Amino acid sequence: MRIGLLGTGNVARALATGWAAAGHDVVLGSRTPKERGDKEELQSFTVVSLDEAAVHGEVLVNATPGTESVGLLTGIGSAALAGKVLVDVGVGFTESMELSHPNYSLSEEIQAAFPETPVVKTLVTMDSVVMTSPGSLEEPGMVFLSGDDAAAKRTTRRLLSDLGWPDAAQLDLGGIGTARGQEHAALLFMGVGDALGTYGFGFKVVLPRAA
Ligand SMILES: NC(=O)c1ccc[n+]([C@@H]2O[C@H](COP(=O)([O-])OP(=O)(O)OC[C@H]3O[C@@H](n4cnc5c(N)ncnc54)[C@H](OP(=O)(O)O)[C@@H]3O)[C@@H](O)[C@H]2O)c1
Repeated sequence: MRIGLLGTGNVARALATGWAAAGHDVVLGSRTPKERGDKEELQSFTVVSLDEAAVHGEVLVNATPGTESVGLLTGIGSAALAGKVLVDVGVGFTESMELSHPNYSLSEEIQAAFPETPVVKTLVTMDSVVMTSPGSLEEPGMVFLSGDDAAAKRTTRRLLSDLGWPDAAQLDLGGIGTARGQEHAALLFMGVGDALGTYGFGFKVVLPRAA
């Protein structure tokens, strides 16, 4: 599958590495592709402009700061984004590390702005290492999905499987409105990471004991 990651940071590089290893055709989209292409940590990737990444990808991944994502996507344009699945791993934080979308979500804002582009929120309740190596945990944690489009969620589930997420570890929360819970849980993720002294952990839902 052709995947265009928007962003060249920790998350974009980790996901690009994981999906390239699984055989996908991956590019990274940057605001300044020429400058980024010279960076050592990007030598093993194909770095193009955001517009070119959007053209390349059947699936696009938003891995940009959540405060900037809608502006960047608007720059690419709704026509170029139409019909593409947008996997949104972004979370918006203010300078004082408050959520930029309290009682709302970045994913809902993106979905409302680009109705022809099905948005799926996922992977925001873990760090970039666990995203691509769920097997590094003692047992699989859980990864959540939110989105209105069933086909886009099926595509996203397959891509999560390619990163090593077992089907049973992928929990579909429902429509895009449920992205609020995921983004707000990013705060819990950081609080737990601070308390544990490591961000290399996963969340797991524990079911009631059978009666
Ligand atoms: N780090 C994690 O473990 C983690 C976990 C879950 C979710 N997230 C979310 O995933 C997204 C990406 O996280 P990250 O850790 O990869 O961030 P990062 O290392 O800061 O990378 C963000 C990338 O976005 C691009 N970008 C576009 N506009 C930007 C702007 N105004 N300021 C800064 N960068 C801009 C940059 O690429 P160019 O300069 O090449 O354009 C940059 O490399 C964020 O929304 C974050 O909240 C992160």
